[in-house]
Amino acid sequence: MAMIAYECPQYKVTVVDINPERIAQWNSKNLPVYEPGLDEIVKAIRGRNLFFSTDIEKGIKESQIIFVSVNTPVKDFGAGAGMAADLQYWEKTARQIRDVSDSHKIIVEKSTLPVKTAQTMKRILTSNNNGVQFDILSNPEFLAEGTAIKDLEEPDRVLIGSSDTLSGLRARDELIAIYANWVPQDRIITSNIWSSELSKLVANAFLAQRISSINSFTALCEKSDADITEVVRAVGMDSRVGDKFLNASVGFGGSCFKKDILNLVYLCRHYGLSQVADYWEGVIRINEYQKQRFVLTMLNAMFNTLAGKRICIFGFAFKANTGDTRESPAMFIAKRLAEEKAELVITDPKALQNAMIDLDGIEGKISYIEDPYEASAGCDAIGVVTEWGLYATLDFRRIYQAMVKPAFIFDGRNILDHKKLFEIGFNVFPLGKPPLTHL
Ligand code: UGA
Repeated sequence: MAMIAYECPQYKVTVVDINPERIAQWNSKNLPVYEPGLDEIVKAIRGRNLFFSTDIEKGIKESQIIFVSVNTPVKDFGAGAGMAADLQYWEKTARQIRDVSDSHKIIVEKSTLPVKTAQTMKRILTSNNNGVQFDILSNPEFLAEGTAIKDLEEPDRVLIGSSDTLSGLRARDELIAIYANWVPQDRIITSNIWSSELSKLVANAFLAQRISSINSFTALCEKSDADITEVVRAVGMDSRVGDKFLNASVGFGGSCFKKDILNLVYLCRHYGLSQVADYWEGVIRINEYQKQRFVLTMLNAMFNTLAGKRICIFGFAFKANTGDTRESPAMFIAKRLAEEKAELVITDPKALQNAMIDLDGIEGKISYIEDPYEASAGCDAIGVVTEWGLYATLDFRRIYQAMVKPAFIFDGRNILDHKKLFEIGFNVFPLGKPPLTHL
C-alpha cells in the first residue's frame, strides 16, 4: 500500500487494522517491521496520501477499492487442522465490508488464499440484499521479504484475476490503471480469478521445491564427496533451469512456503488427487529432514554428545535482511539443540526480540547477544543458520581465539570461506561438501 501511495499521489490510501498498537507504530518513528527501504518511503508520504487508522468502518465507507490483506494462517483446529487455511479473519472482514458499505466497492484479494475463496467472498458480500454491488479481484502478492521494495518497484509481473462480466472487467481495468503508474504494461497480466488464486500457490510451491531439490542433493553430495556448489553451477547454467534460488540451506522458512504447500496439498486431497498431494508434501518432508540433518551433523561431529556444550547460533531470522522469524529453521534447530542439553547463545542483527519470544519457555540455558564476537566467545561451536552478509565479513581468527577447542563451525548457508576457516584451526562442516577437519 505504501508503494501504491508513493507511486500514485492522485490516490488516497488508508491502511486500517484492528490492532491499535500496530497502527500507533505505523504512525510513529519506529515502524513495526524491518524492511530495507520501507522507512524512507513511508516517512516520505505518510500524512500526504498514506494514512494509518483503526477506524475500519470509516476506511471501508470512504474507499472505492479495498485490498484485503488479513492473515490466513494454517488452521489449528477441527477439520483440515494442520493443513487447510483458517479463513475466519477473512470471512469476518467480508461480513464487515458487507455491513458497512453503502456504495459500489472493488474488493481485491491480497492475502494468499485457497482457490475459490473469491466465490465464497462473493456469496457473503451479496447476502444481505441491500443493493450494494461488489466486484472481486484476485491480485496475489509476489514480493519476498528483505527485497520487498525492489520487488514492488520492478515486479517480474503483476497478476490480476477477474470475472469476465462487464463490471468484473471494468474493476480489473481500474486496478490495472493503478499499477500502470509505474509497472510496464507488458508486466501486468490478467487471468480468470481461479487461475490467479492458484498461480500464487503454485509459484510458491515451485520456489520451495527448488530449495528442497537442492537440499536433498546436499545429503547425497556429503555421502559421495561431490560438492553442491559445483553441482549447482553446472546445473544452473542450463538456461531451462536457471541459476537463481538454488542456494543450499538448513531448510526454507518464512510464513509462506510451508503454509501454501500445506494448503495446496489439502486442496489436492479435497479433490481426490492423492498422488499430486503426496508429490508436493514431499517438498515439506525434505525440508524437515534437512533441518534435522543439520542437528545430527553437529551431534555426530562433536563426539555424539552436545550436553553442556555451548553452541552459538548465527542468525535467527528465517532469511537475511529481515527480523521475521516465522517458521525459521533456527527455531527448530535451537529447540532440538536444547533437547540435546546444549547451552545456546543466539545472535542476530535484527531478530533477537522475536527469538526471545519464540524460545520463551524452552527448557535449558539460552542467552541472546547481538554482537557475534561476544556471542561466540567461550563457545564450542558456531552454527550459521541465517545468511546475513555480515557473517562473511567477520574476523574469524579473533573468533577462533576466544572459542573452546576443538572449535567447530557448521555453515548451514555455505556463506563462509571454508578453506580459510580450516587454516585458522576450525573444524569446518559445510553443507553438501566434504568436511575440513583436524580431528
Ligand atoms: C516467498 C516468495 O519468494 C515470494 O515470491 C512470495 O511472495 C512470498 O513467499 C509470499 O508468499 O508472501 P519470502 O518467504 O519472503 O518470499 O522469502 P524467500 O526469499 O522466498 O525465502 C524463503 C525461504 O527460503 C528462506 O528461509 C530462505 O532463506 C530460503 N531460501 C531461499 C533458500 O534456502 N535457498 C534459496 O536459494 C532461496
